[in-house]
Amino acid sequence: MEYFKGKSHEELVMYQNELKQKLEKFKGMGLNLNMARGKPCKEQLDLSNAMIDGSIDFSINIDYRNYGLLDGIPEAKKLFAESMNVLEEELIIGGNSSLNLMYDTLVRAMLFGTVDSIKPWSQYEKIKFICPSPGYDRHFGICEDLGIEMIMVPMTDDGPDMDRVEELVQSDETIKGIWCIPKYSNPTGITYSDEVVDRLASMKCAANDFRIMWDNAYNIHHLNNNGDELKDLLIACKKTNNSNRVYMYSSTSKVTFPGSGIAVMAMSKENADDVRKHMGYQTIGSNKINQLMHVRFLPTADAIEAHMMKHAEILEPKFDKVLEVLEREIGGLNIAKWNNPNGGYFINLDVMEGCAKEVVACCLSHGVTLTPAGATFPYGKDPRDTNIRIAPTFPPLEELELAIEVLATCIQYVAIHKILA
Ligand SMILES: Cc1ncc(COP(=O)(O)O)c(C=O)c1O
Repeated sequence: MEYFKGKSHEELVMYQNELKQKLEKFKGMGLNLNMARGKPCKEQLDLSNAMIDGSIDFSINIDYRNYGLLDGIPEAKKLFAESMNVLEEELIIGGNSSLNLMYDTLVRAMLFGTVDSIKPWSQYEKIKFICPSPGYDRHFGICEDLGIEMIMVPMTDDGPDMDRVEELVQSDETIKGIWCIPKYSNPTGITYSDEVVDRLASMKCAANDFRIMWDNAYNIHHLNNNGDELKDLLIACKKTNNSNRVYMYSSTSKVTFPGSGIAVMAMSKENADDVRKHMGYQTIGSNKINQLMHVRFLPTADAIEAHMMKHAEILEPKFDKVLEVLEREIGGLNIAKWNNPNGGYFINLDVMEGCAKEVVACCLSHGVTLTPAGATFPYGKDPRDTNIRIAPTFPPLEELELAIEVLATCIQYVAIHKILA
């Protein structure tokens, strides 16, 4: 591959000096810009203020101020059953965090096993999880915390490399699960193809209690009108007589308020009954007032869709700005490639091999904080050191432009350094 097309060694040295001056200028500006985490910005949060400013009618028939309703209030169950395309009995409304539901799921499996397990997972000398990578650092964190060994499998444009996944799961009974972010994946932005969904549903697993952690965090988070379609995994699993194979998760963290939203989990009734059984010891019920606030504010699937369009109106220009600046500054130089997702919270950037850590460090020393390089891989180690996750949602548009200019300058500076070395 020809980096910096057409530039001679001398030209590259001169250009490196120019870049150095540009970086000095950024340093002099004393920037403090943060694109490390995919958080909604203030304007997005303001979209849901009606939930807390007293403008919504909270009169209720059943007294939700009291104890009870372990797996959610009927109104919330009805709404989420509709939007997740499941039966109410297959659904559990949790607290504010889907990550919390995922963690609890795996802790239960470790302590008690699943409905299909012959023994608790913790009674194996070692159990393993497949981690399509790049992926979500907090999924990998859960595995590390619980001592679950992670096996990295590459992500493709259609989802995980299914040849590799099938090869692994058919022969090893201690491989107990796989992490999946099936729509607008974090960070690659892709949506799993129908074929990948079908293969996940039908693959032969040595472990009878193999589980797919289907974290559909960005299911309705489109950026434009060309939203991706995702095939329904629970239905596909039911058709292949593997209905217990999948646990599906979602939350309103990036619909209303992160940390104060509601999280949901859907699965076969047999799985759901098992979760309810253990949950009954853990809690008397989640925050029902918050559930009610949500269903009053967003009472129907149509209302949710209209609300998500308002998010898209705020976010699309930010994603466009990142893409525009990257193209303007480093397009055609062959030193980085990035994607243009139809939804989700991230732009996935791959820089020259062996450069990601240095690029992130360069940005940090010039006032731009990015997600640490490697964080998108198990154990924080990107084997090729290429992947950088850009989270454009939080900073204001003007700051974003500047932050990406710094990033693009660092990418070039580090690449030239590598080429000349
Ligand atoms: C893929 C994915 N899952 C889960 C979460 C966290 O969800 P929650 O706020 O519901 O715990 C995030 C947050 O960034 C995410 O990117």
